[in-house]
Amino acid sequence: MKKLLKVVLVNSLILLCFSCYYDDLTDVPQDEPIVIPPEQTVLFSTDILPIFESYNCIECHNGGAINPDLRPDRAYNALVPTYVVSGNSLDSRLYIKLAIDEHRNIDSESLALIKKWIDDGAEND
Ligand code: HEC
Repeated sequence: MKKLLKVVLVNSLILLCFSCYYDDLTDVPQDEPIVIPPEQTVLFSTDILPIFESYNCIECHNGGAINPDLRPDRAYNALVPTYVVSGNSLDSRLYIKLAIDEHRNIDSESLALIKKWIDDGAEND
């Protein structure tokens, strides 16, 4: 009888451990990729330029030696077509530099906005 009790106890302990492990696995919403809804229009002026401002890109990319010039009135012409290939984010140095080379460690929502802006045609809107 004592042996049976032991077996039951050990099994319960194992089950308890696995239940915790399972909770940990399901409780990770922050790892889900951020997808901008297809119907959302991403605008250069109100969605992309503010990213360059909030990450202080202009501190270095200010029309001096470091290209591209990301000052608001220069950024579009500096980016397209040299650093941004309209319709193709994965061929665009802006996106590659930020998303793959992790230049400046910017947040995933900003990256998703930049990607969608480029893939939707990189308009100056
Ligand atoms: C502290 C200075 C600094 C800041 C801030 C900075 N950069 Fe840069 N960036 C550089 C330097 C230096 C280079 C050139 C060397 C290199 O390619 O890493 C560069 C290169 C680049 C390139 C060109 C890569 C190529 O292929 O020629 C892009 C695009 C770029 N940065 C975008 C950005 C964006 C967007 C931000 C803001 C999110 C930003 N940078 C913030 C210093 C900075």
